[in-house]
Amino acid sequence: MAKSKSVYFCQNCGAESAKWIGKCPSCGEWNTYIEQIITKSSKQTQLSYASEKQVPQKMSEIQSRKEGRISTRIIELDRILGGGLVSGSMILIGGEPGIGKSTLALQVALKLDHLKILYISGEESPQQIKMRAERINLKNDNCYILSETLLENIFTHSLNLEPDLLIIDSIQTLYSDKLESSAGTVSQIRETAASLLKFAKEKNVPVFLIGHITKDGTLAGPKVLEHIVDTVLQFEGDHNHMYRILRTTKNRFGSTSELGIFEMGSKGLREVSNPSEILITQSDENLSGTTIAATINGVRPLLIEIQALVSSAAYGTPQRSSTGFDNRRLGMLLAVLEKRAGFRLAQKDVFLNIAGGIKVDDPATDLSVIASVLSSNLDLPIEKNICFAGEVGLTGEIRPVTRVEQRISEADKLGFKKIYISKYNSKGLDTSKFKIEIVKVSKVEELFRSLFKKN
Ligand code: TYD
Ligand code: MG
Repeated sequence: MAKSKSVYFCQNCGAESAKWIGKCPSCGEWNTYIEQIITKSSKQTQLSYASEKQVPQKMSEIQSRKEGRISTRIIELDRILGGGLVSGSMILIGGEPGIGKSTLALQVALKLDHLKILYISGEESPQQIKMRAERINLKNDNCYILSETLLENIFTHSLNLEPDLLIIDSIQTLYSDKLESSAGTVSQIRETAASLLKFAKEKNVPVFLIGHITKDGTLAGPKVLEHIVDTVLQFEGDHNHMYRILRTTKNRFGSTSELGIFEMGSKGLREVSNPSEILITQSDENLSGTTIAATINGVRPLLIEIQALVSSAAYGTPQRSSTGFDNRRLGMLLAVLEKRAGFRLAQKDVFLNIAGGIKVDDPATDLSVIASVLSSNLDLPIEKNICFAGEVGLTGEIRPVTRVEQRISEADKLGFKKIYISKYNSKGLDTSKFKIEIVKVSKVEELFRSLFKKN
């Protein structure tokens, strides 16, 4: 007879405990332990998807396979994945409800009309999916839709149909009848994801998993889920903005700092192939506090607008707040301006905003942040055809940044007249091929003088 016992799992990290505890010793979160009844049966030890037996092999005996990449026919998505879908890989797309995960997955399914796709939804009925497909106005006769949440049935259908791509919407709705706990619990997610991975690797079929995220923005379910899959994509964006940003946080087959920008419209998601143009306000007016930073995201240069507002502190303690930029880094840059260049900012409120809802962590943004703060503080605008790429050190020195040539070339291409870079970045730099004027600065004071002293 099946024996059952109760076990407690941390819903944050998946740690297991025999009794309830308030604070998870593994991840430090409070109140995350939930009781689950585990029924032990003789089948228990096997995953739902039983695989063929493997024996140890010599490295030289393993047949190497050319890494087959399947294009998703969405250029932005291909680039984020590192050049297309790798066969047999498992990709997790996480994001808030309503951000567009199902839309993106369906768009991929319908665009790949030369492949057989199995789209499994545990959230929507086939009719609802059909309505969505009509809305995005794509047709694919090779796309099969299945509303199913039981893992064992999913495998039966997948083995019968032999699809070239499997899409699961979402991993939290799946359950295996080997476990008694309900769908979405740590043990179910772990079991279903591990079985799907086995299936993907053995049948060499890429699997797209859609995952929910929790209130604080992390992927719901155990951390092990992120370890299991090959690639983790985060779909981000503000509901009030049209733009949606897809970024890689883990990728076994490519870079993790890639970023793709999409626009949600009435016909689904449209890729934005020239993001620099949309991220910069198209106004002719020169406004104080606004500058352009030449950043790099993954392999792609991106020019983004940095806005700063410096005003006298309304309350005793000045506020420092930033969106899209690290608050502590902003604090550090303000301290450098105060200490090394003598600007009195201690009694000022400073707000910083990266336009378009983008988050940056490229240190080359520092120079633009400093220029924006100075510009707003003095209420003197900086011309719109100037951009910046440089890191600022604690002594107020402007430090070199990586791939400066690529940044300059992008700024040049977009018609900027002047770019400020670090003096130490000029080694081996061939400036003759650019039309753009390159200004080299070595200290914050020098930047200040160059920008404002002639006015
Ligand atoms: P959806 O893909 O259902 O989000 P998720 O699966 O991440 O929960 O996206 C739904 C949102 O997208 C919804 O608010 C409506 C909007 N949308 C459009 O604006 N245009 C469209 O063509 C589609 C299909 C959806
Ligand atoms: Mg959905």
